[in-house]
Amino acid sequence: MRMWLALGLIVGVVSLTAIVVADDAPATSAPPPAGMVQPAYDDKGQLIRPEGYRNWIFVGASLGLDYSEPREGQVRTEIFHHVYIQPEAYKHYQETGTFPEKTILMMENYSAGDKENNTAKELTKDKEQFETLNGRFTDSRLGVEAAVKDSAKSPDTWSYYAFGSRAGLLPSARAFPKQACWDCHNSHAAVDNVFLQFYPILREARAGK
Ligand code: HEC
Repeated sequence: MRMWLALGLIVGVVSLTAIVVADDAPATSAPPPAGMVQPAYDDKGQLIRPEGYRNWIFVGASLGLDYSEPREGQVRTEIFHHVYIQPEAYKHYQETGTFPEKTILMMENYSAGDKENNTAKELTKDKEQFETLNGRFTDSRLGVEAAVKDSAKSPDTWSYYAFGSRAGLLPSARAFPKQACWDCHNSHAAVDNVFLQFYPILREARAGK
């Protein structure tokens, strides 16, 4: 009797795991919609930095969002993130609730300017000064990152790239090892490694569906 109970529990847990996995990573993703910008790689297999994404769909912004604790003594500067997706991938998500193959999410990182620290001062030299300014705004671009859904590139489906460097934006970037990016995305993101919980525009795209 006790053994059957234990067995039942195990089967229960196993099928629960199966459901969770299925929800996390759909076994088959739809092919890319016609006309969608696709990821391109150079001869070293590095992702060529996609351009034109500021004309894509803007899905969300965040400030200082992070799941990891600061290291001892580390002073963390909060930065803004702006996230964009190809219009065709957005439409596909709106219609099906899934992301097709070759989906690209681009994230731009900006410093948070305030009345003390900003690059806006220079542009408003002749105007009234900053004393009464409140709040923080996106100031200087610090970097560009990409999340790319490409099963042909990686068995983990999603790969992650960063194009920022001291010298400016790199023309191409190598995929990060799984533990650097994928693990956190996979364990915290709401849908298929994508942090949908922070993208109201994408969430609302399926409202009422
Ligand atoms: C500790 C957790 C964590 C790690 C590690 C992590 N991210 Fe993220 N990432 C997030 C969160 C939270 C968001 C939600 C959006 C935001 O930050 O504004 C996000 C969003 C993104 C997005 C926007 C698309 C999406 O998937 O939601 C990109 C692109 C991205 N991260 C790139 C990277 C890269 C590149 C690395 C590895 C160098 C990385 N991330 C590592 C937590 C993480």
